[in-house]
Amino acid sequence: MDKIKIRGGNQLNGKIYISGAKNAALPLICASLLTKESIRLTNMPILSDIKSLNSLLEVLGTKIEEKTELKSGFESKTYTYTTDKFDSLVAPYDYVRKMRASYYVLGPLLAREGYVELSLPGGCAIGARPMDIHLNSLELMGAKIEIKNGYVVADAKNGLTAAHIIFPKASVGATCNVLMAATLAKGTTKIENAAKEPEIADLIDLLTKMGAKIEGRNTSILTIEGVKELKSAEHEVVADRIEAGSYAIAAAITKGRIELVNAKSEHLQTPLNILRNMDIKIIEKPQSVVVDARNALMQGQDIMTDYYPGFPTDLQAQFMALMTVVPGASMVTENIWENRFMHVPELMRMGANINIHGYASAIVRGVKKLSGAPVMATDLRASFALVLAGLVAEGETVVNRVYHLDRGYERLEEKLKAVGADIERVKEED
Ligand code: EPZ
Repeated sequence: MDKIKIRGGNQLNGKIYISGAKNAALPLICASLLTKESIRLTNMPILSDIKSLNSLLEVLGTKIEEKTELKSGFESKTYTYTTDKFDSLVAPYDYVRKMRASYYVLGPLLAREGYVELSLPGGCAIGARPMDIHLNSLELMGAKIEIKNGYVVADAKNGLTAAHIIFPKASVGATCNVLMAATLAKGTTKIENAAKEPEIADLIDLLTKMGAKIEGRNTSILTIEGVKELKSAEHEVVADRIEAGSYAIAAAITKGRIELVNAKSEHLQTPLNILRNMDIKIIEKPQSVVVDARNALMQGQDIMTDYYPGFPTDLQAQFMALMTVVPGASMVTENIWENRFMHVPELMRMGANINIHGYASAIVRGVKKLSGAPVMATDLRASFALVLAGLVAEGETVVNRVYHLDRGYERLEEKLKAVGADIERVKEED
């Protein structure tokens, strides 16, 4: 299994190209199942999660064409998805287990074919991750749903019908699934308390190009008027706000200056404001964001994760890594996932001073320095937090279980090396 080796202490300076967003690309891929015609997605990130979802679509009968293209001098993928007919309506355990977002096939298959069997994904390192909101909503739209042998068996042979759905929580996944299902349902569906993450707006943009009738983009009330069929479209995946935020913190923690090329500052206002509070200069440009921490007199900050536009849970671990070396105390509160402090014991092994209070809060007291160590994390963002700690730690840090990073950070070591990090991937046989 590959490892990442980092020797800390280098200030990072230069430009990093921000890839297309993983969490936007995954539902966009599944939206292609709503039509017989071809859907072309550009600026797709090169990530193992995308490959896993592509393999599942191939099992369902999708033909996928792949092209490599250059964007701002960086390679990205263009995929064309065509599902003129289905070979299978079953999303098997082996695929869903690897990639939770495989559950995005639920809404489209049910809407287009009236039937789907989806392996239940189960829990994961950050929490139980139930699917009740997805399933209850689809039942309100007329689907008969049963759980059998670890599978969700959903049947809507006579088609889905519109419903008025009020989400108990603003779930990103449920919003995407119900949105996709409603595009082909009979009548007008209304979703209240929908998630407002930029990845949802990106999905709405593709669905609209495909001929869907959706109102309420960027708001918590979405109205979807069902249409008979959807058609071919082309769409460029929005820039990854979490990747951009992660590299913004890399600039901060190394007291460097990084220009995040292609990043969209409007999707990052809450984390950027925290960096501004820390005396870090943020320059917002139309095609990039500059994060300049060279002369910043940083102080601890409190952060509390929340639904968008609140502070993103997917940047919580990375911010905590920054707080470990900033003078003063910081309180970090996780409000979205019940178990997202798995990085804490590993950061403490590197010398961080962190106390967890109850289940959701941690007090971080900045230390003068961290020291390198072999570490590992159980999820993607926690792994990046350890990379950040490694960038400032004295000596060598070896981050194990790199497959987590490969799920969501495209060519991480290449991007960091280009701005001055002493980082390398060590290939190892299993
Ligand atoms: C998406 O997960 C992201 N994943 C997550 O990013 C992200 O942390 C999360 O949204 C929150 O922003 C993808 O987009 C693929 P939710 P999702 O449904 O859709 C509860 C990463 O690192 N809930 O918005 O699964 C749930 O338990 C990943 O890239 C229910 O109770 O998240 C959680 O507490 C990790 N019942 C809250 O809602 C349900 O049916 C928000 O979950 C669904 C969710």
